[in-house]
Amino acid sequence: MADTFQKLAAIRGMNDVLPGDAARWERLESLVRDWLRSYGYRNLRTPVLEYTRLFTRGIGEVTDIVEKEMYSFTDSLNGDSLTMRPEFTAGIVRATIEHSLIYDRPQRVFAIGPVFRHERPQRGRYRQFHQIDVEALGFAGPDIDAELILMLARLWKILGLTDIRLELNSLGSAEERLAHREALIAYLEGFKDQLDEDGQRRLYTNPLRVLDTKNPALQQIADDAPRLLDFLGEASRAHFDGVRRRLDDAGIAYRINPRLVRGLDYYNLTVFEWVTDRLGAQGTVCGGGRYDGLIQLLGGKPAPAVGFAIGMERLLDLWTQAAEQEAEPECDVYVVHQGEAASLRAAAVAETLRDAGLDVVLHCGAGKFGAQMKRADASGAAFAVILGDDEIAAGQATVKDLRQAAQPGADNQRRLPFDGLAEALVDALAAG
Ligand code: HAM
Repeated sequence: MADTFQKLAAIRGMNDVLPGDAARWERLESLVRDWLRSYGYRNLRTPVLEYTRLFTRGIGEVTDIVEKEMYSFTDSLNGDSLTMRPEFTAGIVRATIEHSLIYDRPQRVFAIGPVFRHERPQRGRYRQFHQIDVEALGFAGPDIDAELILMLARLWKILGLTDIRLELNSLGSAEERLAHREALIAYLEGFKDQLDEDGQRRLYTNPLRVLDTKNPALQQIADDAPRLLDFLGEASRAHFDGVRRRLDDAGIAYRINPRLVRGLDYYNLTVFEWVTDRLGAQGTVCGGGRYDGLIQLLGGKPAPAVGFAIGMERLLDLWTQAAEQEAEPECDVYVVHQGEAASLRAAAVAETLRDAGLDVVLHCGAGKFGAQMKRADASGAAFAVILGDDEIAAGQATVKDLRQAAQPGADNQRRLPFDGLAEALVDALAAG
């Protein structure tokens, strides 16, 4: 029995976020939500579980995600095959079609939350991780592609991130990819014996992904392969030029990476990634692109769309490196009390302070005065409100300024009547 209990740890690659760190997550989410609102994006929430076929069809059968990374199971109640979302895009598109969201007007939507992929865990790569996912549905032009990228540049600025660079490519249209695919297969067939197991398997199913190889022995073959960019027709080229012109005008630097194909099958035209060298092997902070065929593929009337997702763990890691984060206080005021009458009064005082908008922690459970004051200090509160028999008799509270307490000789304690206590504390906090 004891052994079983010892094994109750979190699943590998699925992390707890403890209160000390959660404050940073919340601060980031709050900045992100303000930033999304400033571009007119609205929240859309989809379930964590979807039918497996949504992802096999949407993301593509011959992708790492669908082949080996999905948490799928059979619903024992009715035999349905269900999958924990490995990304947001397919679910958002499904919801868009199901609720006829985009046929009157295009939609700018976002979702933030956990996604699941059975990958080998390492720094920046987890099995439950979090994405900030942004989708612009029903927009066809290069203007929105560029806006999404500009928007990301602004987020990096808001967060003070500098070492992050943009890689850009165009995957053209389905016909252009087909023509390129044929040329690519013919080229790769010449190196068939040198391809590794993954490469051999993908040669005919997904040859573009052969170019995405991390195998150093295959780099030269991949480098010399026919480039999709050379197969783009006039319309695709014009779209790509439109994106580039807007980025150039806005002074956004980028590198065209003809090998950037992304790991999901739904993309066409613009694809991009933001990468950094500061996170070790998992340096891609954000990836996205256009997916004009997905809405129709999933059963909707044809409509264009484009979007991206940011890995929140990676973004947090980078943000923490860029700016030392101060520990978030638990509250503004910590209420300390001693004696029966004071304890009863303390709860009422705490409520009055909360009425005035203050964040208040009331000491609960018995404790010596000294121990209570230690808790008050550890809470990060600006003030301790102290109630004892003397205070109750006088109808006053003792207020201790905990931020000044560290300065020797500072007059950091005063008595204030219960009436007006909340106002005095609100003013003192506002004065810093
Ligand atoms: P993705 O490139 O698969 O794209 O994932 C987006 C981001 O999620 C990555 O750039 C990375 O920061 C983060 N990420 C991916 N896998 C892990 C992992 N195992 N652990 C931690 N972070 C990870 C998509 O998911 C597309 N749905 C993006 C998109 C939206 N395209 C159009 N709209």
